[in-house]
Amino acid sequence: MTVSLYDRLGGYDAIVAFAGELIDRAQSDSLLGRFWSNRGEDRNARDLQLLIDYLVKETGGQMYYTGRSIALAHAGMGITETDWARFIAIVVNVAQEMRVEAPESSEVLVFLGNLKCHIVTSA
Ligand code: HEM
Repeated sequence: MTVSLYDRLGGYDAIVAFAGELIDRAQSDSLLGRFWSNRGEDRNARDLQLLIDYLVKETGGQMYYTGRSIALAHAGMGITETDWARFIAIVVNVAQEMRVEAPESSEVLVFLGNLKCHIVTSA
């Protein structure tokens, strides 16, 4: 039987820890922080929960994702290649610190890579 990426990453608690760390760093990043400027705590909490739900569902966990499509959620933000590269660098750092190893580390990057065309809309 194939074990889902969700289970191999460590299940719900691991995804929550990963998403929380990722969002914390992106929001306080000198380049990426602008995307979350002037937003209230509750909105940030809601977005974090949506990210968790999305990741759980997409990696094979039991979750009903109620958020918008990834394309719609990021449309008009003007996210660039440079922003994307910074975001991925943060992902790699967090994954290393959480001791995510191959093949899961590569699977996470492939999964995110497939989303890039829906998120990066500016040169
Ligand atoms: C440079 C990369 C990214 C930036 C700057 C970014 C930024 C944002 C921001 C500012 C929001 C809040 C939108 C709003 O409240 O209207 C958001 C929502 C969201 N993002 Fe991203 N994001 C990035 C990449 C990603 C990736 C790779 C994923 C998926 C793994 C993702 C998943 C989500 C989800 C699920 C939401 C919530 C959707 C909803 O509100 O319905 N984001 N993102």
